[in-house]
Amino acid sequence: MLSRSPSPEFSPLSIGEDFAAIPTYKAASTTSIDFSNLLEPPLQLHEDLKSGCGGQLWPAGMVLAKQMLRYHKNYLQDARILELGAGGGLVGLGVALGCPVVSPIYLTDQENMLSLMERNVTLNSLKSRVLPLVLNWGDELPKEVIEQKPNVILAADCVYFEPAFPLLLLTLEALLELDSEAVIYFCFKKRRRADMQFMKNARKKFVVEEIEDEDRETFSKEGLFLYTFKRKP
Ligand SMILES: C[S@@+](CC[C@H](N)C(=O)[O-])C[C@H]1O[C@@H](n2cnc3c(N)ncnc32)[C@H](O)[C@@H]1O
Repeated sequence: MLSRSPSPEFSPLSIGEDFAAIPTYKAASTTSIDFSNLLEPPLQLHEDLKSGCGGQLWPAGMVLAKQMLRYHKNYLQDARILELGAGGGLVGLGVALGCPVVSPIYLTDQENMLSLMERNVTLNSLKSRVLPLVLNWGDELPKEVIEQKPNVILAADCVYFEPAFPLLLLTLEALLELDSEAVIYFCFKKRRRADMQFMKNARKKFVVEEIEDEDRETFSKEGLFLYTFKRKP
């Protein structure tokens, strides 16, 4: 494993050609999100870009959360779920609220996102069911994750900063080594040619399948793709 992750903390000055443009800058605020009526009561999400680019929800997160709530809700009861690059926790928190999952769900991201994840866990009264954790792509997996052996891994909009692509692939690989049956639900928005290079490399390492979704026609027009990654036999 590589020891340091070069992904930048958010700073308007740090946006270079490696970095995809963030969604429109919004002031810090808390909103209710019901994922197109899939979640009642809705998720309360505090967004604040001060913590980093993940401080605001990104388009792939909405697509992935809706996929999980619409199609997987009844199959996740015994799942061991971990979210990578969770930002404020949109997807993992949506799943925790909408699906009867027994084991705690790990929301993971870099150190700078920890306080926002914690704030959103508290805001939704999920302290006993959702655990925020630092997991830097490319680093050794935290011991909590090794013990958890996640078998459902969620990753939304984690393809946006080219120097981090190999680190993300290393972490995805390390996670699939913990459980040969684990499934990664991976949603990303294609912004530059390099993003397809990421997918090309992912196909070399994993079994990659595009998955069905009733919104696919709409989100594919926006350059969004939804896949599962599984360990190669
Ligand atoms: C574009 S945001 C997506 C946030 C959220 N998943 C969503 O869909 O709204 C990407 C997230 O990946 C995290 N990230 C970037 N590089 C990382 C790294 N090397 N290790 C861990 N997380 C990283 C960022 O902090 C950020 O929260």
